[in-house]
Amino acid sequence: MTGSASAATVRHLLNLSDIGPGGLRRVLDQARARKQARHGLPQGAPDGDAPLAGHVLASLFEKPSTRTRISFEIAMRQLGGSALTLSAADLQLGRGETIEDTARVFSGFVDAVMIRANRHSDVEAFAACATIPVLNGLTDVSHPCQIVADLMTVEDHAGRKVDGMQWAWVGDGNNVLHSIIEAAGLLGFAVKAACPAGHEPDEGFVAAARARGASITIVRAPEDAVAGADVVVTDTWISMGQSDNEERRAAFQPYQVNPMLMALARPAALFLHCLPAHRGEEVTESVIDGPQSVVWDEAANRVHAQKALLLWALGRIS
Ligand code: CP
Ligand code: NVA
Repeated sequence: MTGSASAATVRHLLNLSDIGPGGLRRVLDQARARKQARHGLPQGAPDGDAPLAGHVLASLFEKPSTRTRISFEIAMRQLGGSALTLSAADLQLGRGETIEDTARVFSGFVDAVMIRANRHSDVEAFAACATIPVLNGLTDVSHPCQIVADLMTVEDHAGRKVDGMQWAWVGDGNNVLHSIIEAAGLLGFAVKAACPAGHEPDEGFVAAARARGASITIVRAPEDAVAGADVVVTDTWISMGQSDNEERRAAFQPYQVNPMLMALARPAALFLHCLPAHRGEEVTESVIDGPQSVVWDEAANRVHAQKALLLWALGRIS
């Protein structure tokens, strides 16, 4: 094997549960502390302690990205390190070199890898052969890095911890919802998800969060999910890699977050969307551009969340 660490000691972030409840809270504390400590520094200036000076992250993309790509690059600069952003199609991976061999080669070149992949199983296969940390930058199964930014955004705007809150999800039972459900299990908040028949979240994520004591409810009507919620979240009806078919569009029509739906949530409820948004589909302009929307802070917080996750993966946070 290449690399200096043994595979057994390497920290991978494939799902949020890899961090554990205490670790997730420490990651959130770290993200917030670093954000506050920057005091308006230019975005490319390193943090005072430059904790990852000399370290290199490779970010590998099989699918498009704006936020994940930029936030990981800026995160590494602010931590004092550097980043390579790579398209899988441009690597030998695109013409048949195996994932396992690619993982062994990356392990000899860089200190950590972030991967956005079509198949979660490919990220697991990469991690199994890597001797450096592997972070999941979105798969068909989950999007853990996004949810750390979401948690941070909600806590900052609400002025309290997410523990005990009620989050409403409206739409597809997809990768983003899976990571929210994991976070609910780790931090102890309730999720009510309204999904059309056949588009519910994976039962494994639901069962695991319930086993940790979280209340996870899957309902059909968006109104039932949103009633009394502290946070309302939605996402695209058609994720990357899914076909944009008429059946899907028809099924999701009643799942638009609009002012009438938001009016059922608590008056101080926050609206989240990981972006990119499809205005007029899963959310109206009036909601995403309205006073309850915190989507721009949510996107900007990706940098701070990514920094804390990189520090966790590289063993700088317990
Ligand atoms: N939310 C998110 O992951 O955005 P990108 O697809 O632009 O990275
Ligand atoms: N569910 C969406 C999230 C995009 C950031 C997708 O997978 O395309």
